Amino acid sequence: MKTHPVLLDVDAGVDDTLAIAFALLSPRLDVKGISTVAGNVPVRSCTRNALLTLEILTPVLHSLLPERKRTSPPVVEGASEPLREKLFTAKEVHGEDGIGNASKFYSRLLQKPLNISAPDFIIQTVQKNPQVTIIATGPLTNVALAIGKNESAMKRVREISIMGGAFNGFHNTGPVAEFNFYVDPDAADVVMKSGIPIRLHPLNVTEQCIVTPHDLQAVRNRMLREYLLRVTKFYFQFHRRTERFLGGYLHDPLAVAAVIDPSLFDYEPGYAHVEFAGKYTRGMSVFFPKLNPAKEAALPEWVSRTLRRRMSVRVATGVDPARTKKLFLQTLSAYSARK
Ligand code: BDR
Ligand code: CA
Repeated sequence: MKTHPVLLDVDAGVDDTLAIAFALLSPRLDVKGISTVAGNVPVRSCTRNALLTLEILTPVLHSLLPERKRTSPPVVEGASEPLREKLFTAKEVHGEDGIGNASKFYSRLLQKPLNISAPDFIIQTVQKNPQVTIIATGPLTNVALAIGKNESAMKRVREISIMGGAFNGFHNTGPVAEFNFYVDPDAADVVMKSGIPIRLHPLNVTEQCIVTPHDLQAVRNRMLREYLLRVTKFYFQFHRRTERFLGGYLHDPLAVAAVIDPSLFDYEPGYAHVEFAGKYTRGMSVFFPKLNPAKEAALPEWVSRTLRRRMSVRVATGVDPARTKKLFLQTLSAYSARK
């Protein structure tokens, strides 16, 4: 089966952890590396969580795809602060350690992060793998820094699949913003304007996909199931308190699902911007769909200047929740099916 090279940029994070497991276990993806970024928790914890997830998954992976000689992808620690704002975390959603306080069950970490900066690592990975897709599930600080450092290399990326943004009244941080864009709105705006092909998966679609403890009970590999249930417990309880259902949104796994099977989503092309100057609107995502030429001609000059840019963003406007969840759970259980 042809595999697709991907690079994960994560603020791991409970749902980031689900996304990492999903990507690593997908026979369709070849994870070339993982960079971490401050977001849900400080970056040091995100790095520890990514390494821990790799350690849990390594024996699973070896049994799953020995023919591909999978070795653990390198992990690189990235930005500890957003470009301009102070770090804002989500410990009430993800726990003090970012994985629902499950880290206390696992003490030994064998792998260490590579000693290279995240922007350099991203650029090098892109240069070595021109067809690579970046899957970004945290604030976009590392990606924006990589674009600032070597824009022409970054333009060779096949695509960036992002979990971020919220439209038409959706929000989970502040009155109009989604968390990843709220934390580093400057970085999000740089990435949206970069001209690199982007597929954006906002809250409007990610809040349609829910995973429950019952679903995860179906992961038959004991070690993986135990790990995922421990990691998600706090996140699920948060949703029970705030959303009145026992389970959690599959935000970040959707950015992975989109690379494995784009047909799960409907997309609309247009121009996306992120508000970074607003007092009440920090992190708000603004989407400008393609207009007909007559309407475009009537726009104020600053808007039409914007519209002359290459249209490179596609925003997910619809998702098939049942098929997406099935793909996610089947991928997590692929190993179990053989064992
Ligand atoms: C996003 O915010 C984070 O808390 C989650 O990991 C996800 O990436 C959802 O708004
Ligand atoms: Ca995340």
